[in-house]
Amino acid sequence: MKKVSIIGGGNVGSSTALYLAEKRIADIHLIDVIEGLAEGKALDAEEAAPIRHYDIELRGSTDFSNLKDSDVVVITAGIARQPGMSRDDLLNTNARIIKSVSEKTAYYTPNAIIIMVTNPLDVMTYLALKVTGFALKRVIGMAGILDSIRFRYFVAQKLGIAINDTTAMVLGGHGDSMVPLPRYSTVAGIPITELLSSDEIDQIIERTRKGGAEIVGYLKTGSAYYAPAASVAEMVECIIRDKRRIRPCSTYLRGEYGINGIFVGVPVMLGKNGVEQIIELELIPEEKEALHKSASDVKTVIEALENQNII
Ligand code: NAI
Ligand code: 2OP
Repeated sequence: MKKVSIIGGGNVGSSTALYLAEKRIADIHLIDVIEGLAEGKALDAEEAAPIRHYDIELRGSTDFSNLKDSDVVVITAGIARQPGMSRDDLLNTNARIIKSVSEKTAYYTPNAIIIMVTNPLDVMTYLALKVTGFALKRVIGMAGILDSIRFRYFVAQKLGIAINDTTAMVLGGHGDSMVPLPRYSTVAGIPITELLSSDEIDQIIERTRKGGAEIVGYLKTGSAYYAPAASVAEMVECIIRDKRRIRPCSTYLRGEYGINGIFVGVPVMLGKNGVEQIIELELIPEEKEALHKSASDVKTVIEALENQNII
């Protein structure tokens, strides 16, 4: 049986554990620094097994040595946004946490694939790469899938059509300058640019960019977790089952799209080795410009981190 460890047993971590248990693709170990939290949530979830029919092991602890022999490590440890906070406001606190858990990941399970979730996402993924020294294809950030499924949801709502007929592609950093691509977003293969007016598309783009803040506005004490966890579970499944699906993920670019040396969301093929391939879409000048602006926002936050000697 494959093994997936999840560091951070809070809202996203525990919801990811549940979605993964339902998929029955791997044993799961949840780790949190709060005594009893991961143990309690794992036990509670595993007690559902008789009627949810899991035949996997779902355990929790505070002990990082349980990371040993993980195929995939999902990192959700850190603090989440409160109303009025941007993802970048989480930088200093989360950077210290991510540095520490990345060191432990590299020590206990040096062959694992890391899926980063903690915000600011693209920067925390970069930090995990630098700390672990893992191969580029084995450190991946989750954001583009979440942003794309939000976009799909809004398109389906607007058109009153089946959500399963929609596709969407959202590139860039996981921040307000993310880059939804209407030309590459479709309903049953028809680009949405043929189905919606440019005003309607602009509204959907804006709502997608603010999708995280919309949920924070409702919850007030934290940020979204069901759709994020579902997005992580999809990435884990692509890797564990070597599905070779193409999804937007934060990946380290070395000149692709004219971007070098940072993580940013672009379409990748996800398989058993992690990022099997980076897909380069043909972009028109305004799309390329928006992607470069988003990448430069990510770079600014990386520089802020470097100036504090955290990396
Ligand atoms: P949460 O507060 O519910 O859970 C975080 C957990 O991390 C807590 O239980 C805390 O005890 C634990 N933790 C803190 N330091 C730790 C350490 N050193 N080792 C192990 N566990 C530690 O927060 P939530 O909602 O689960 O969000 C987690 C992170 O994911 C946040 O930074 C949030 O912004 C981010 N996020 C990113 C998304 C994305 O699209 N990339 C989507 C949703 C959330
Ligand atoms: C979101 O987009 C919090 O980044 C997270 O919901």
